[in-house]
Amino acid sequence: MSRILTGIQSSGKPHLGNILGAILPAIQLSEQSGNESFLFIADLHSLTSLKDANTLKDNIRAVAAAWLACGLDTQKVVFYRQSRVAAYHTELTWYLSCVTPYPMLANAHSFKDKSDRLADVYAGLFLYPVLMASDILLYDANFVPVGKDQKQHLEMTRDMAERFNRIYGDTFVIPEARIDERLMVIPGIDGQKMSKSYGNYIDIFLPEKELQKVIKKTISDSTPLEAPKNPETDITFKLFSLIAGESDIAMMRENYLKGGYGYGHAKQALFEVMKSRFSKERELFNYYYHENPAALEQKLEEGEEKARVIAAKKIAAVREKIGLS
Ligand code: TRP
Repeated sequence: MSRILTGIQSSGKPHLGNILGAILPAIQLSEQSGNESFLFIADLHSLTSLKDANTLKDNIRAVAAAWLACGLDTQKVVFYRQSRVAAYHTELTWYLSCVTPYPMLANAHSFKDKSDRLADVYAGLFLYPVLMASDILLYDANFVPVGKDQKQHLEMTRDMAERFNRIYGDTFVIPEARIDERLMVIPGIDGQKMSKSYGNYIDIFLPEKELQKVIKKTISDSTPLEAPKNPETDITFKLFSLIAGESDIAMMRENYLKGGYGYGHAKQALFEVMKSRFSKERELFNYYYHENPAALEQKLEEGEEKARVIAAKKIAAVREKIGLS
């Protein structure tokens, strides 16, 4: 049995791009039998960039509610906030930082990119990879699914684990990165990659009127209603194809090609399919985020209890190795 673990940034309410590109595939992976899955919200990492308490609090809740809404089963996945197991995560961070050479951290992209403005760099950003290594090594994870941008952090994690094992004897499992190469790029309403920072995203959890308004803003060309249109280059059609069923996609393609079908019609169809395809998710998000935050809290606390038991054991073993028991 393998243990799969990954961390999620708590950087705001996940949008359609995050959901199709990351959340749904991760949940699918966690449902493959024979694996044990750990999924946590990396809220301590967020502190390196986010300094507003209310925003942070809200982001954590929104991320957790979105994962539950998308079908994460907390019976199968240990789901927790890193900050609620913080004593162990930060303790291991210290032990690892005492076997991590300074140049290894100075070489991290996340740090190096900013090293021409050192006055703006917090020590927390410098130690980011060590905290990340502790997230992984604390739970003896075998596989860590991450995006390409995290590859170096995983290499550093392996390096830290190997150094520690060499000095103190075999203690940590050496984890492997599972880099997702599928690279599913979801277009935003302006046709660029959907991203929070571009402001071109679709938040599937919005109330209907607002959701419709966003979808209406999807960029289209000026082909008149009567004229045939090219489905392959149109953003509304692309988004529709990512969500709708095969026969509906075929029908919309035909409508585009034969003309007499406007972009307004297509956007209305996109809005409708968005509501129906994600009706369960919308309802659950509403439940956990707006109506019953106590239920959300309870789910997380259950996961945190499980995580704490495992982390405590590992820390006890580490203390033994280093002479602090
Ligand atoms: N740094 C990761 C990211 O930006 C988030 C993260 C924190 C993480 N700790 C982790 C991912 C441990 C995997 C394992 O996406």
